[in-house]
Amino acid sequence: MKNFYSNINKSKKILNNNKVVAIPTETVYGLAGNAYSDVATKRIFKLKNRPHKNPLIVHYFSIKNLQKDCETNRTFDILYNKFCPGPITFVLKKKNSSRISKYVTSNKKTVAVRFPNNKIARTLLSKLSFPLAAPSANISSKLSPTCSKDVKEEFGKKIKFILDGGNCKIGLESTIIDLTGKPSILRPGSITLEKIKKVLKKKVSIKKTSKKIKAPGQLKFHYYPGIPVKMNKKYAEKNQALIGFGKKFKTGKNRFNLSKNGNLKEAANNLYKTMRLIKKRNFKSIAVTKIPSTDIGYAINDRLKKASNK
Ligand code: TXA
Ligand code: MG
Repeated sequence: MKNFYSNINKSKKILNNNKVVAIPTETVYGLAGNAYSDVATKRIFKLKNRPHKNPLIVHYFSIKNLQKDCETNRTFDILYNKFCPGPITFVLKKKNSSRISKYVTSNKKTVAVRFPNNKIARTLLSKLSFPLAAPSANISSKLSPTCSKDVKEEFGKKIKFILDGGNCKIGLESTIIDLTGKPSILRPGSITLEKIKKVLKKKVSIKKTSKKIKAPGQLKFHYYPGIPVKMNKKYAEKNQALIGFGKKFKTGKNRFNLSKNGNLKEAANNLYKTMRLIKKRNFKSIAVTKIPSTDIGYAINDRLKKASNK
């Protein structure tokens, strides 16, 4: 407990100085900085080597804080009440009076916002006088980190402090839903289209990767483990590792099972970890067997598709 608060206070000090800290969330680790500060948010882009046209997600403690910066609406209220704090990001209209840095929004009139459901992240947010801009704590276009060791591997000593919160519960990035017009899912996640439709009781669309990109995370190529990824394979080729799923898939030296029980949540949680491990074991590429596209499987396949686009 003593460590818990001293680490939070240390992070607070660093953040108050417009520097960045890696923070745990229930989805993946984020690289966090004061969302109201140009200096802090510019640092995030630089560290990640992120193109400036790719806006950041802003993390809030409460709706009250959020309403200083964004217009909310009825659909937002319904989804907020059902899913927040939790792994869902809303794209909302930015208020003219908002103090959010122009770097965060890439000069857009909209902001992506979320309320992370992680005790450490929430405690930190509750102690700050600003929200936190926090993209996933990886070098741009690479795999998101799901534990503090992954973050260290991405950035080494370049970041001042990693607030360690162990392994991320979910291990895949949040669902992003655009609420500035008709509800539209820009990035699938553990809160699925079906779950969202059920509470909204209306049509919700899901954006396929297209030329007109609304969330640059929708760029065709992303989530790259550093070696080529091939989907829907049955066997591994030479120097290749095979990722599989379910009871029938035997593990072995070059065979990695995402979930022996065929549990998609567990598979999602193991996905990035397994790809990192395979890269470390010096395989030259990754083949993946067919993974069901139901529930969070849809988001798993979304990430795999983008990783295999190189
Ligand atoms: O789970 C998560 O969402 C994690 C944790 C750390 O919160 N964060 C995360 O951030 O995945 P990032 O930056 O890796 O992905 C954010 C996505 C990007 O694809 C970005 O293009 C999109 O959100 N985005 C940000 N602002 C947007 C906006 N105003 N309109 C549309 N998309 C936006
Ligand atoms: Mg990311």
